[in-house]
Amino acid sequence: MQLPTPRGPLTALLSERLRRPPHTVGPPHAVGPPPPATGTSALADEDLQLALFTCYELHYEGFDGVDEGWEWEPSLLAVRQVLERRFEDALSRAVPRPSFRPHVPMRQALAELVAAADGPCLAAYLARRADLDQFREFVAHRSIYHLKEADPHTWAIPRLRGGPKAALVEIQADEYGGGHLARMHSELFRTTMRHLRLDDSYGAYLDRVPAVTLAVSNVMSLFGLHRRHLGALLGHLAAFEMTSSFPNEQYGRGLRRLGGDDMARRFYDEHVQADAVHEQIAAHDMCGGFASRFPSRAGEVLYGAACALTLDRLFAEHVMGRWRRGASSLLEVDVMAGTR
Ligand SMILES: [Fe+2]
Ligand SMILES: [Fe+2]
Repeated sequence: MQLPTPRGPLTALLSERLRRPPHTVGPPHAVGPPPPATGTSALADEDLQLALFTCYELHYEGFDGVDEGWEWEPSLLAVRQVLERRFEDALSRAVPRPSFRPHVPMRQALAELVAAADGPCLAAYLARRADLDQFREFVAHRSIYHLKEADPHTWAIPRLRGGPKAALVEIQADEYGGGHLARMHSELFRTTMRHLRLDDSYGAYLDRVPAVTLAVSNVMSLFGLHRRHLGALLGHLAAFEMTSSFPNEQYGRGLRRLGGDDMARRFYDEHVQADAVHEQIAAHDMCGGFASRFPSRAGEVLYGAACALTLDRLFAEHVMGRWRRGASSLLEVDVMAGTR
């Protein structure tokens, strides 16, 4: 993956520094003063979300031409910490902390959160009304996560023991196709992208996706890379799995309407089946087991789930809002034309 095009001073700084051998980036305040703390600004801040994504990506596949030594460069980690605090503050303002009631089983508490989630129904629109260009846009957004599907939640595996670990491994094994390349969910998504004549290389649409799409991905890395967020990471995965079967059935239906064959739709069809099972394992065995072992962390689990649901709503609001105005939900329209 290429380093992304800068969107402001933070990403300009990173873009310039990361092309050089690892060195001291400067004191954390080198990233400048925080923007005014209003509403959910950091969730929609293009420069901040892309800077965080860039920092996090050093822990995944990295970037072409960027020295691997940057991954643990202390001064860069200090900068990332400043950015993470802004992200965490924005999340805490946007996402009310659900209170955990000890007499309510975790599975039920999660189900209630999911049932209470609202927002525009992007899945129904994609099923019935979206045109091919809109579906392609949707897939370009989702490629930021789906081409590394499951990786952020895998960070939790070495941090767990016992039943919750076994439950997470069971889910992740499916996500990675049970060790078969052709069945890996990220590979199934590549097939869908190729059918839609989109570039299936990792990060190909990084310069096209807005802050909210990056935030959807960044929250997983934030929770995954910090052990203090372990409960939130598990709750996030549970919310993902519990809100997956129905939308994926709708996405598959939309793609069929737009001419997608069985192979093109397999990613979505697979999730209708798999996630009906995963949601049970995630809510009951994984999150329920974790909350039983660490009752004081049960609230974190619900908070992680609430963060996933809120960001999903903000993403849907962004995409549907743009489409209602007849505009692209991506940052520039013309670049997509080159891939048709
Ligand atoms: Fe999956
Ligand atoms: Fe799943």
